[in-house]
Amino acid sequence: MNARTPTLFVFLAASIAMAGCEDLPTLGDDPPDPPDPQAVFRFETFGDETWWTDTLRMHEVIQAAVDPLTALSVGLKVDSEALPDGILETVDLEDPATTVALIGLDAVLGLKGEVDADGTLTRVGVTCALCHSTVDDGVMPGIGRRLDGWANVDLNPGLIVSLSPHFQDPAAQAVLTSWGPGMFDPRFNIDGVSDPVVIPPAYGLEGVALETYTGDGPVSYWNAYVAITQMHGHGDFSDPRIGVSVDWDEDLVTPLLDPLRAYQLSLTAPRPPAGSFDASAAERGRGVFESLGCASCHSGPLLTDAAERLHEPAETCMDPTLSERAATGLYRTTPLRALWQHAPYFHDGSAATVADVVSHYEGCLSLTLSTGQRSDLIEYLKSL
Ligand code: HEC
Ligand code: HEC
Repeated sequence: MNARTPTLFVFLAASIAMAGCEDLPTLGDDPPDPPDPQAVFRFETFGDETWWTDTLRMHEVIQAAVDPLTALSVGLKVDSEALPDGILETVDLEDPATTVALIGLDAVLGLKGEVDADGTLTRVGVTCALCHSTVDDGVMPGIGRRLDGWANVDLNPGLIVSLSPHFQDPAAQAVLTSWGPGMFDPRFNIDGVSDPVVIPPAYGLEGVALETYTGDGPVSYWNAYVAITQMHGHGDFSDPRIGVSVDWDEDLVTPLLDPLRAYQLSLTAPRPPAGSFDASAAERGRGVFESLGCASCHSGPLLTDAAERLHEPAETCMDPTLSERAATGLYRTTPLRALWQHAPYFHDGSAATVADVVSHYEGCLSLTLSTGQRSDLIEYLKSL
C-alpha cells in the first residue's frame, strides 16, 4: 500500500463512525421520512449485494486488482463532490485500496459498498447510476460532478462482470468481453442470446408512453425488470410475455418504484453545447425532417409516436433480433433528445454518427437528398 493512502482511510473511518451514530434508532421516533428519489437512483441496491458480493465476489475482485486507473479505463466514474478537498493529489491512483476507499465514500457512480475500519471492502452492490449517469470530467476524464440520467457511453459492463470468478468459463468470457463500451444485454441471462443494445439515457422521458427500444412497458415496468432481473435486487417481477417470474420473500423494489420514476421524470435532456451545431442550418433541417416523413413517426414534442403504435423492424430496416426477443416483437420510435450526448444510435449502435443515421434512412426509405438538405438535416439532429 502506498504510504499516502491512509489519509483517506482515516477520513473514511470517521465518516463510517458518524454515519453509524445517525442510524441509531431513538425511542418515540416519527415514522421514517419517505425515500429521497435522488438517493434511490444513485445509491439504492435493492439488496443486490447477494449477487454482486456473495455470488460474483466482485468485492474480492475490486480489492485485489481494480485500482482507480483500471476502474476509469472500464468506464467507471468518480464523483469529485464526494471527495475531501485535495485528496486526489495525495492518493495513489494505481492502488486498489484507493478504489475501495472511494467506494466507501460513495464516490464511484453506481457502486455501493461497505468498507470496514481496516479498509476491507466487505460488501458491494450496484445501483441505477452505474449505467445511467456519468460525470462532467471537471477534474480529469472520468472524475467530476455527477450528471444523473446521462447514458454512461464509456461503461463496459460486460468486461467488468467478466472479471468475476463466477464467469470464468470460456463461453461466458467470450460473450461478456464481446459487448464493448456503452453496450449491455439486459436479456442475455433470460434467453441466452447475446445481442447487446446501446445503454440509453434515462433523461427526457417525461411524457414518453413506453420505455425500451421495443416499448416493453412504462418506466416503472422496466425499472422493476432491470432492478430485479439484471441488478439482481430483491423484489417481485412477473411478465408472462417473456416467461419471467421472480418472487423474493422480501420485496425491496416495489415500494421504491414511485420515487425512482419521479426522479427519472425530473431529469431533462441536456441542451447541446454552445457552438456544437449551426442554428440556421438546423432550422432549415427541421423542415427537411418534416418533408421527408421522419416526423410521421418522430411526431409531437417528444419526437415519438410511442403512445400510438410500435413498428415492424422492416419499416425502418432494423435487425429484427432484438424485437423477436423482446416482449412486444416490435420497435418503439425512439424519442429524439440530446443526440449529441449518446452516440452511437439505433438500438444496436449500428449508426456511429447522426450522418450515419441519415445514410441509413436514405437507403432504407429510398430518399433522395441534395447535399444541402442532407447537411441541414444533420445539423437539426445535432440540435436536439
Ligand atoms: C448494467 C447497466 C444498466 C443498469 C444497472 C440499469 N440499466 Fe437501465 N438500461 C440499460 C440498457 C442496456 C437499457 C436498454 C434496454 C432496452 O431498451 O432494451 C436500459 C433502459 C432503461 C430505460 C429506458 C430508456 C428508454 O428511453 O427507453 C430506463 C428508464 C432505465 N433503463 C432506467 C434504469 C433504472 C431506473 C435502473 C435502476 C433500477 C437501471 N436502468 C439500471 C442498462 C442499465
Ligand atoms: C416508420 C417510422 C419511422 C420513420 C419514418 C423514421 N424513423 Fe427514426 N426511428 C424509428 C424507430 C422505430 C427507431 C428505433 C430503431 C432502433 O433503435 O432500432 C428510430 C430511431 C431513430 C434514431 C436513433 C435515435 C437513438 O437515440 O438511437 C434517429 C436519430 C432517427 N430515428 C432519426 C430519423 C430520421 C432523421 C428520419 C427521417 C429520415 C426517421 N428517423 C424516420 C422510426 C422511424
